[in-house]
Amino acid sequence: MPVEDLLSDRLDPAIVVSGEAIPERFRHDWSGQKPVRPLALIRPRSTEEVSATLALCHEAGIGVVPQGGLTGLAGGAHPVEGCVALSLERLNRIEEVDPAMATMTAGAGVVLQTAQAAAEEAGLFLALDLGARGSCTVGGVLSTNAGGNRVIRYGMAREHVLGLEVVLADGTVVTSLNKMLKDNAGYDSKQLFIGSEGTLGVITRAVLRLQPRPTFSTSALCGCRDFAAALSLLKAARACLGPSLTSFEVMWPSFYHFMGDSLPSLPQPLRGRHGLYVLIEVSGFDAERDAERLETLLGERLEAGEVEDAVLAASGKDVAALWAIRESVSEYSKVLGPVAAFDVGLPSHVTGSVVERLEAAMAERWPDAIALSYGHVGDSNLHFVAHVPSAGAVQPSAEISALVYGTVRAAGGTISAEHGIGTLKRDYLPYSRSSAELDLMRRMKTALDPRGILNPGKVLG
Ligand code: FAD
Ligand code: LAC
Ligand code: ZN
Repeated sequence: MPVEDLLSDRLDPAIVVSGEAIPERFRHDWSGQKPVRPLALIRPRSTEEVSATLALCHEAGIGVVPQGGLTGLAGGAHPVEGCVALSLERLNRIEEVDPAMATMTAGAGVVLQTAQAAAEEAGLFLALDLGARGSCTVGGVLSTNAGGNRVIRYGMAREHVLGLEVVLADGTVVTSLNKMLKDNAGYDSKQLFIGSEGTLGVITRAVLRLQPRPTFSTSALCGCRDFAAALSLLKAARACLGPSLTSFEVMWPSFYHFMGDSLPSLPQPLRGRHGLYVLIEVSGFDAERDAERLETLLGERLEAGEVEDAVLAASGKDVAALWAIRESVSEYSKVLGPVAAFDVGLPSHVTGSVVERLEAAMAERWPDAIALSYGHVGDSNLHFVAHVPSAGAVQPSAEISALVYGTVRAAGGTISAEHGIGTLKRDYLPYSRSSAELDLMRRMKTALDPRGILNPGKVLG
């Protein structure tokens, strides 16, 4: 029996879509790769239907690509020829917000922004936040262990998880919806599934840890003299703001001016040009004290000549204006077309010189290259985005990757600080993991997915 018929025969036909009926949006993620039509699209409505799908695919040896909001940038959710796509988007129920435990129990398909709003409605705060908040899902952010804008204060996605329900490759359902902050009973197996990009199991539900909702939040945009001045601002901000420092984002002139000039409708709150642009978010529970500390900090750095200009938000509207250029990253396809995009990690003290080297090497190799540098420098995470206009539709991505990853390895960094490996970084994994670490990963994969049906070719190949 053809596989499509087997799926429709053994599963509820209401959850199986095949052939040309598979909508275009399930044929690609945000990694910029050519769309692929999966063998079939399965859209389960419950954990039981996920389990039935995996049990069948395990038995028949059919590869399964889990899909959340498809905003992933490493190719993890991109369909694979001859495999089914398993969309978790229908598992979109927020089951509970528990104010006493400060937790939320949510389905894997709940969109991050919806989860954030539900926490706020309950007087609590889901601190995980990233630019793709309006489309990415709970299952996707946990499977990639996403980072985002508030890692400096609240940590990566992993830190926001207390419990997980997972379906294993053979269809076994493992429900560990723990809500307690402390649970040391044996192995913490949920950690295996966080950040493993759908290669070890499929997440169906999660218990998320919520935080007290800050009563005050503001942002400042600073024009700094250079990278050394930005690092000195980071050290001073950590020391004087403590846990109230909730974001420290850096934009190099290459990024700030290119995006500002390309999208003229975006507000540009700073008038002059500076060596580097830093966005600081401060939030907490003592508005007066935090605002005063931030003003003192900026005053001191201005006096030292390290900060050349600064704008402090006075309203929510101002905050949005200060963040507008930083948040414009979703417009790359509009302003650049196809890009090679990186999310490397680097020790802070070398980040400035690595950016100089990368931007210079790009200009030398491709004189018309556009190379944009920015990132979550408070978390030692640099984003680098490159486009070569003269190359047209076929960008020299492989050569750019070799240049970037070679430089990062030599500088003691990691090839991925937050987006994961997917397929785009797979060949470079040995730059960041030893052969013993890779061997352990393969043993884990074989133990949990002996037939290799989960997200074939992703992460380990
Ligand atoms: P998908 O793209 O659908 O999937 C991502 C991976 O998880 C794939 O490997 C997929 O197979 C797997 N997967 C999805 N759901 C499940 C599940 N239920 N069970 C098992 N595996 C699953 N990332 C950051 O870390 N920080 C940022 O600041 C950030 N900003 C972004 C801004 C923009 C504009 C965009 C487009 C992306 C950004 N990203 C960022 C990347 C992306 O949003 C994250 O990787 C996000 O976590 C992906 O979530 P998703 O639901 O879209 O997952
Ligand atoms: C960002 C994404 C690309 O931080 O990770 O903008
Ligand atoms: Zn990022």
